[in-house]
Amino acid sequence: MIPSDADYRRAVELLRAGELVAIPTETVYGLGADAANPAAVAKIFAAKGRPADHPLIVHLAGHDAVDHWAEAVPDVAWELMESFWPGPLTLILKKQAWVPDAVTGGQDTVGLRVPGHPVALELLRRFAASGGKGAGEHAGIAAPSANRFGRISPTTAAHVAEELGERIPMILDGGPCKVGIESTIVDCSRGEPVVLRPGHIAPEHLEAVLGLRPSIETAQGAPRVSGSLEAHYAPRTPLRLVAGERLLDFLNSQRHRGGVCAVIAHSQPPQAGMPHPWRLLPADPVGYAHDLYGALRDMDHAGADLIVVESLPGDVAWTAVADRLRRAAAGAGQG
Ligand code: TXA
Ligand code: MG
Repeated sequence: MIPSDADYRRAVELLRAGELVAIPTETVYGLGADAANPAAVAKIFAAKGRPADHPLIVHLAGHDAVDHWAEAVPDVAWELMESFWPGPLTLILKKQAWVPDAVTGGQDTVGLRVPGHPVALELLRRFAASGGKGAGEHAGIAAPSANRFGRISPTTAAHVAEELGERIPMILDGGPCKVGIESTIVDCSRGEPVVLRPGHIAPEHLEAVLGLRPSIETAQGAPRVSGSLEAHYAPRTPLRLVAGERLLDFLNSQRHRGGVCAVIAHSQPPQAGMPHPWRLLPADPVGYAHDLYGALRDMDHAGADLIVVESLPGDVAWTAVADRLRRAAAGAGQG
């Protein structure tokens, strides 16, 4: 899973030439382009089938590049960077005037993140060292998750190939993603920090740095934050959340009606004699997040009429995966 020197060189050449490269990060795979090249960024939207007014995250090699992309960066944002970068945290900041509308969706803010993945960091360093194009030594890679719009984010190179393989010239394979769900997004552009998308970095982790728990506004930014659209992260098969204590009854009733279910559970192991494809995920939120998208993708291919997911515990530690599952249920079964 360690790309060769030639792989990195080819990736840098492609980025410099305004082409797309899929890149591993610790959260999910990204579909990358030179963030300072609007024509290259336009190819991302075309490949994903994503509306062009949805802003992208710019991935940077390190803190040094932040002032090139953002202005009036507040102290709290620097504190969050110190604590969580490289890592699964995206900060929304006021953008520098030069930053292309193609990246920001025409907004006056830009999303920045230094990813915590050695392959992503090596590529970012090499791209910046090559003088980037528009942004020179502060070059960044704009990258949304490398899935078609509205679908399940990819957590392996094979998932990216399945989503976009024929549409992109290169997938840099960095192995399976450690975190498995997208970064936490914190808006630091308008006073008090606000969480726009929950993720691996939970409110209590942010609170430890900020001294107060940030509020969460996931629905409000929609459709500007496409990850906050009600229907997102979705399999093609319809998906339903069913409480653990009702799971067996529900499956039996579906079976009597001739429905084929595929099950994703976290507390209930498969019952002997049950015909359903059944995936038991870890019963802790971090392990669950790591495996969730792969499980959804597998179950989407299981030939079932319905994916049945055991409802998650209500406590706050499960917020990020509960958010993804709710949106997956809302978007499922649409094609
Ligand atoms: O973990 C991640 O964040 C992954 C990896 C590849 O870094 N990327 C990712 O990108 O999830 P994407 O485009 O699928 O989701 C990024 C979210 C979108 O919902 C987008 O609207 C929001 O970030 N976003 C980006 N720039 C923004 C801005 N200036 N204001 C508000 N939201 C922004
Ligand atoms: Mg996405």
